[in-house]
Amino acid sequence: MTVSPHEQTAPLIMSAVVAMAANRVIGDGTGLIWHLPDDLKRVKALTMGCPLIMGRKTWDSIGRPLPGRGSIVLTRDQHWHAEGAIIVHDFNAALVAAKSWIAAHNPQCRKIILFGGGEIYRMGLDYCQQIDLTVIDISPDGGQNAALFPALDATEWSRQVEAVIAPAGDIPGYRYECWQRATPPCDL
Ligand SMILES: NC(=O)c1ccc[n+]([C@@H]2O[C@H](COP(=O)([O-])OP(=O)(O)OC[C@H]3O[C@@H](n4cnc5c(N)ncnc54)[C@H](OP(=O)(O)O)[C@@H]3O)[C@@H](O)[C@H]2O)c1
Repeated sequence: MTVSPHEQTAPLIMSAVVAMAANRVIGDGTGLIWHLPDDLKRVKALTMGCPLIMGRKTWDSIGRPLPGRGSIVLTRDQHWHAEGAIIVHDFNAALVAAKSWIAAHNPQCRKIILFGGGEIYRMGLDYCQQIDLTVIDISPDGGQNAALFPALDATEWSRQVEAVIAPAGDIPGYRYECWQRATPPCDL
């Protein structure tokens, strides 16, 4: 792959990609509570060619490595193993693994994706420069193991609404937002 001078100098950032309901629920602990095919396509486009940092429960909910991306999985279990997962046991090791994945697979990539779920967003948001957020116009009860996306401090983030999608049939309305950090993130 050829690397343009711009790409060589662009800084590496972390970007969170998440879909949440109006009440901040992102899943029931084992999977998503909705099915939005167009949002899944958007997630694919936003993440292709990048390393993903995810928690073991999110890995379990997907069950396989996502093609064209690195699946870096955080677990405290030293014996856990899954085919295709790059296993790490703390956030620093996840950052090191993400950079190694970029160097080995796609040096043009300038983005590490914080991929969830709730525990991993809480741990990694301070490192994020950007959040690609889908907000769905529903407020589901995620049950006793519901995962939530953390509330964002309006003094630290600015929001741009990129698209508003009207409800259609079984599919609720939702919108795409891009949040940019106004204060510097933690160093990667
Ligand atoms: N809507 C969305 O955009 C979106 C995105 C991603 C996920 N989700 C949903 O979110 C839910 C899962 O989220 P969750 O909060 O329950 O779990 P999670 O964040 O996916 O994973 C939690 C697990 O990560 C590991 N972990 C957490 N902190 C760690 C640390 N400091 N060091 C090492 N390992 C650590 C632990 O694994 P061990 O237990 O193995 O030690 C922990 O149980 C699912 O419903 C999923 O579908 C939604």
